[in-house]
Amino acid sequence: MKIMLAPMEGVVDHLMRDMLTRVGGYDQCVTEFVRVVDQKLPKKTFYRLCPELHHGGKTPSGVPVRVQLLGQHPQWLAENAETAIELGSPGVDLNFGCPAKTVNKSKGGAVLLKETQALYDIVKAVRDAVPSHIPVSAKIRLGFEDKSLAVDNAMAITEAGASELVVHARTKTEGYKPPAYWEWIAKIKQHTSIPLVANGEIWSASDAKRCQDESHCTNLMVGRGALALPNLALCIKNNEAPMAWKDLASLLIQYSGYEIFGDKGKYYPNRLKQWCGYLKRQYPEAELLFNDIRRLTQSQDIVKVLSEHAGIAL
Ligand SMILES: Cc1cc2nc3c(=O)[nH]c(=O)nc-3n(C[C@H](O)[C@H](O)[C@H](O)COP(=O)(O)O)c2cc1C
Repeated sequence: MKIMLAPMEGVVDHLMRDMLTRVGGYDQCVTEFVRVVDQKLPKKTFYRLCPELHHGGKTPSGVPVRVQLLGQHPQWLAENAETAIELGSPGVDLNFGCPAKTVNKSKGGAVLLKETQALYDIVKAVRDAVPSHIPVSAKIRLGFEDKSLAVDNAMAITEAGASELVVHARTKTEGYKPPAYWEWIAKIKQHTSIPLVANGEIWSASDAKRCQDESHCTNLMVGRGALALPNLALCIKNNEAPMAWKDLASLLIQYSGYEIFGDKGKYYPNRLKQWCGYLKRQYPEAELLFNDIRRLTQSQDIVKVLSEHAGIAL
């Protein structure tokens, strides 16, 4: 079984990828998206979103990170895919699932799910542009407003030569609301020959098992669940118990050492508060912690409160 850490814009950056892959169980990561409009982007854009490119395209614990591209123009996507590979990305992932209005207005992301031919053209152009041994994966939702094109879209992506297809088992209109329609992945599987990865609404080892049973798909991708329960991948693979609050608090204290150059100390306070929003699903303690740190802006003050909450001596 392979477990991938889902791309999450504004949440799963290289520091979060580092944190979660250190915890373990993840076989692969995907970057936040590189937005491609009508030009070949400078190398610095790729390095900013994927600093792992400085280290062979892997997180410090050795997990490969694929650059994710989002856009609508086959040729520009192909040229930028070439750059990603030249810089050392171990693959390219194409985003056909983003629900953001700004992105969809300019025809990137999920709106392309209405245009099967466009999906084919993009995947084909990117596939043709990068060496054949380099994986080109795509990530789709089941549709934009309805699921009528789910199978056609997956078939087009397969015929265009994609190496792997991640299916977030909901339409754009269904957003992030439960349930995820895992049984649709099984339907898609009957018509495609490439490896599929099931995604959506996996929060626990038992969800993962149900998802595998219903989707007929062994490989999984987890997003919000990985933030809510940092050792989710190990719970799924090794039947590990959910991480204890005290261990998690140590991890959150360790995270305070992570800063993005030039952010003037805002990174940790902002990101930790954001992370608490996901953690509170699994840990009621995270909600109490959030209430006590919401007004704090300095990392050292937050770490002090955090250590008091978890009974950890600094
Ligand atoms: C805040 C946020 C940002 C996301 N950003 C991306 C993205 O950049 N690219 C993408 O393909 N999917 C993105 N997604 C979708 C996730 O990768 C994933 O498909 C979705 O959250 C369902 O999986 P989950 O139920 O395990 O979270 C995002 C989701 C969230 C909640």
